[in-house]
Amino acid sequence: MGFVLAATGSAVGLGNIWKFPYMVGQSGGAAFVLVYLVCIALIGVPILVAEWMIGRRGQKNPINTMAQLAREHGHHRSWALVGGIGVLAAFLILSFYSVIGGWSLAYVRDALTGSFTGLDKGAIGAAFEGFLARPLELFGWHSLFMALTIAIVAMGVSKGLERGSKLLMPALGLILIVLVGYGATTGSFGAAASYLFNPDWSKLDGTVLLAALGHAFFTLSLGMGIMMAYGSYLGEEVNLLRAARTVVLMDTIFALCAGMAIFPIVFANGLDPAAGPGLVFVTLPLAFGNISGGLVLGTLFFLLLSFAALTSSISLLEPVVELLEERTALTRVGATLVAGVTIWALGISALLSFNLWSEVKLAGLNIFDLLDYLTSKFMLPLAGLGAIVFAAWKLEQTSVKRELRLGDTGFAIWTLLSRYIAPIGVLYVFWNNL
Ligand code: PHE
Ligand code: NA
Repeated sequence: MGFVLAATGSAVGLGNIWKFPYMVGQSGGAAFVLVYLVCIALIGVPILVAEWMIGRRGQKNPINTMAQLAREHGHHRSWALVGGIGVLAAFLILSFYSVIGGWSLAYVRDALTGSFTGLDKGAIGAAFEGFLARPLELFGWHSLFMALTIAIVAMGVSKGLERGSKLLMPALGLILIVLVGYGATTGSFGAAASYLFNPDWSKLDGTVLLAALGHAFFTLSLGMGIMMAYGSYLGEEVNLLRAARTVVLMDTIFALCAGMAIFPIVFANGLDPAAGPGLVFVTLPLAFGNISGGLVLGTLFFLLLSFAALTSSISLLEPVVELLEERTALTRVGATLVAGVTIWALGISALLSFNLWSEVKLAGLNIFDLLDYLTSKFMLPLAGLGAIVFAAWKLEQTSVKRELRLGDTGFAIWTLLSRYIAPIGVLYVFWNNL
């Protein structure tokens, strides 16, 4: 139970409520959603299980685990790179994740002080634009979010947070469902549903494929060694496939509910679905400003969203800290500070992308987009590919069959997925983009 909670805490976060809806909007709707769901089922689930399995066998940090398992099975030690890319990706992701966590905290204040009450879409959009244009303010919220993350990891109280999430996650889910209910009153519910689930396949191209694949990794916290690290605490008694079903189901439900809460508001108000990273921050406040009890609901929503973001951000910081702790003379607190402050500093360049440095670009991408692109669309799929290839081709397979408690048919399906479909899927999407 504790394990499933921790894994769900890492998985459910800004990826579901902030990132998923705006990526859907930027990719043109249902074609992205359906490809994303296929990626989750055929690639995400096998890789999640593979990471847990590798972690449980190795019982160490991702780099050492990969190195040790490779050695035991007589393979090259460069497999440790799979763990290495993952830790680096976690480092880079947290830098911009914390910026958005900061937005969420800022919106707790705004909701609480009634800033949304009676505002129309123009005013809410302008307020968000104004917020982005004030780097000092973004800096303050990013710093607060990162300080909270650092404090929790340094004090080693993540467990307490997990126990809290048992109550708070369902509460967040409940508010989302209320918002979906609000969407049903806007008159644009049907439009939103068809936007999300009725695909226009002409919108599907290599870019959309890569975005869907990358987001499947991001949302399930895959390819970062995080799930591998969690696996290292797992006892033999845990049924991996059943645990994966729970985590993936929860994650998917949160994402789809977020979509069904946000898009009715988008269409009812004639907003731009492709507005980008601000989408959730300019849609939901419209609902909070116009429904009775919106003040309480809005405050609770952004509070719980910040909490969900925190359970994810501590899971991003943990592997970096553990690595530093093992490889240097630093104590846990020292390692947390060094890692946290470095990540915080990198995050500053990410938040400047929304204002002072918006024109600082590499390959057409600002620093924020670049960090996102490099991790989601490159490092995570690559590291995840390494994990699945290792588990499916390099581990002794009779023990895998036993570990997954599969019969002959189940194992045949697992073999098909893990050996062929998942790796070929990742390679195909990569190749498509080259
Ligand atoms: N999976 C988290 C989310 O969807 C983000 C995350 C990515 C957390 C990677 C940990 C590691 O918000
Ligand atoms: Na997620």
